[in-house]
Amino acid sequence: MTTTAETVGAAPVKDFMPLHGIDHVELWVGNAAEASYYFQRAFGFTEVAYAGLETGLRDRVSHVLKQGDIRLVLTGTLRSGTDVAVHHARHGDGVKVIALSVPDVDNAYREATSRGATGHAEPHDSSDDHGRVGIADVATYGETIHRFVDRSAYEGPFLPGFAPVVNDGPRPQDLVHSIDHIVGNVELGAMERWVTYYEDVFGMTEMIHFTDEAISTEYSALMSKVVTNGDGRVKFPINEPAEGKRKSQIDEYLDFYEGAGAQHIALTTKDIVRTVAELRKRGIRFLNTPDTYYEEVPERVGEIDERLEDLSRLGILVDRDDEGYLLQIFTAPLGDRPTIFFELIERHGARGFGEGNFKALFEAIEREQEKRGNL
Ligand code: FE2
Repeated sequence: MTTTAETVGAAPVKDFMPLHGIDHVELWVGNAAEASYYFQRAFGFTEVAYAGLETGLRDRVSHVLKQGDIRLVLTGTLRSGTDVAVHHARHGDGVKVIALSVPDVDNAYREATSRGATGHAEPHDSSDDHGRVGIADVATYGETIHRFVDRSAYEGPFLPGFAPVVNDGPRPQDLVHSIDHIVGNVELGAMERWVTYYEDVFGMTEMIHFTDEAISTEYSALMSKVVTNGDGRVKFPINEPAEGKRKSQIDEYLDFYEGAGAQHIALTTKDIVRTVAELRKRGIRFLNTPDTYYEEVPERVGEIDERLEDLSRLGILVDRDDEGYLLQIFTAPLGDRPTIFFELIERHGARGFGEGNFKALFEAIEREQEKRGNL
């Protein structure tokens, strides 16, 4: 299936909400110490900063991990009844904060709240010996927060109050490099409202995908629209469940997350074959791709640099649009609940999100069924 992606809509006269990119993503988890170990040993992150009892916090602990341009913060509670404890009791492990790097926090907060965002924390400065950081929070879907961060006057390892972590563990391994997109799952009928929210509040525009909507809906049981900022550095697909042949995967998420939230974080890799081979060696589980999926890849996708047998052996998916192709794979859920997971993605020009794989995967599953005489 051919997919093209195009940004439509009138260009804003002035970018009222310039975004430099995603500053960090903070997950609130049940055991930050173990999560930190897991993301370091499994996914190749390095711990760079820490805050907890030793740094004067009494109710929570945070580990800050880095790899390439990705900053991941893992926060756990030290007591019952805290915000983190209450959030975790309800949602399980999940993304609490998607922080956006902005040149001017006051301006970002003022623009966002005047355009309909609910403020969570007014702009404030936080400082220590390393300098000063501007911070403000606004609400997005579910109990998720967008945090505006301006760290241009700060030299420390993360934020004021965090101690640097001198790491003698594994060195950075360049398995993943940056955040490509973060997907939000919202309730049935709410997708359009959240697309409008990102357009109104953040000045984003919708990336229209000229896909065969009927097919992708029937097979994948989800509806999805993507909003992006002016330079395309921040991309937020928004999913809502759709009536399909089976219970939608989005329904399952909403059920187990007990509300809207971030479904997956897509991490770019410069060599997906190497990265997935390494992660599989470390025991990371991925969604299964039937062998039959690869039968029609040459015809559907055409020439690619990678060897088909490598993709097939590792279960890596491939899709093409008018501008190129992309390789992608999805991990199994990261925690106990069938909620948050990672995608690994390597783009070769394509700007889409692998929409063609919905149909290709479904057809591959049908071919497997056929082989078993069950179709
Ligand atoms: Fe994705």
